[in-house]
Amino acid sequence: MVDNIWTEFARSYDAICSQLNCYRRMAAKIHRDTEGRRYIIDAGCGTGLVSQPLVARGHTVVGFDNNPAMLGLARRRHEEASEEARRRWKVLEGDVRSFPAEVPGEADAVLLNNVLFYVPEPEEVLRQAHAHLKPGGVLIATGPRKRPDLRKVMVNSIEEWKAEGRWDEALQAATTYHVDVTRRLVTDPNEMVTFFETDALVDTLRRVGFSQALAADSDDYYGENYYVCMAR
Ligand SMILES: C[S@@+](CC[C@H](N)C(=O)[O-])C[C@H]1O[C@@H](n2cnc3c(N)ncnc32)[C@H](O)[C@@H]1O
Repeated sequence: MVDNIWTEFARSYDAICSQLNCYRRMAAKIHRDTEGRRYIIDAGCGTGLVSQPLVARGHTVVGFDNNPAMLGLARRRHEEASEEARRRWKVLEGDVRSFPAEVPGEADAVLLNNVLFYVPEPEEVLRQAHAHLKPGGVLIATGPRKRPDLRKVMVNSIEEWKAEGRWDEALQAATTYHVDVTRRLVTDPNEMVTFFETDALVDTLRRVGFSQALAADSDDYYGENYYVCMAR
């Protein structure tokens, strides 16, 4: 396990990300592209914010992460789920550069939702994803195309919250803290290390062995992020 900036993010991650419309739109695309796909690996699952609704929809999900604070929140979510849901949901400690041995292969989908940007060796991670998918299974990867414009994302998000009547004191306090940590994340060259233009990621995935791009766009986070869904 590694104690890093994600320990600080764990304090505000769910309060902010669950409210961000840009995060919700990205999660909706993950739901669209995993529909009918039974077994999903959520690599770098964080607090389990993406895993949980997938489990609720009936998927079997194995999530893992290497930050103790983020993983602690995922484990709490798991404990609070119904017994039936817990039987289809595992939360493990593990590194995306070498998936833990307890993660079964032959997955129908692997998620790398906003994870690759933190890894200096993205191709190793993509090879792991490929090796854990069954033929026809999909990898869904999202993340920043370049060093992101945090101001643009937050100004748009706050405008939307105000228009929807959601910009209350609790959200304002969580935002102040979260933006402070995020500013450090996005500006420190040792924290945010890997960016992909959408087409470049598709090319990289082809080189790793993936075949067909089912979705590839640059719409998320007000145009800052790529969203790629590619079949093995
Ligand atoms: C932006 S969060 C995304 C969390 C989750 N995928 C989501 O969509 O809410 C990035 C996560 O990647 C995890 N992470 C970063 N590098 C990792 C690595 N080498 N192995 C496992 N997890 C990693 C962090 O601990 C953090 O929880």
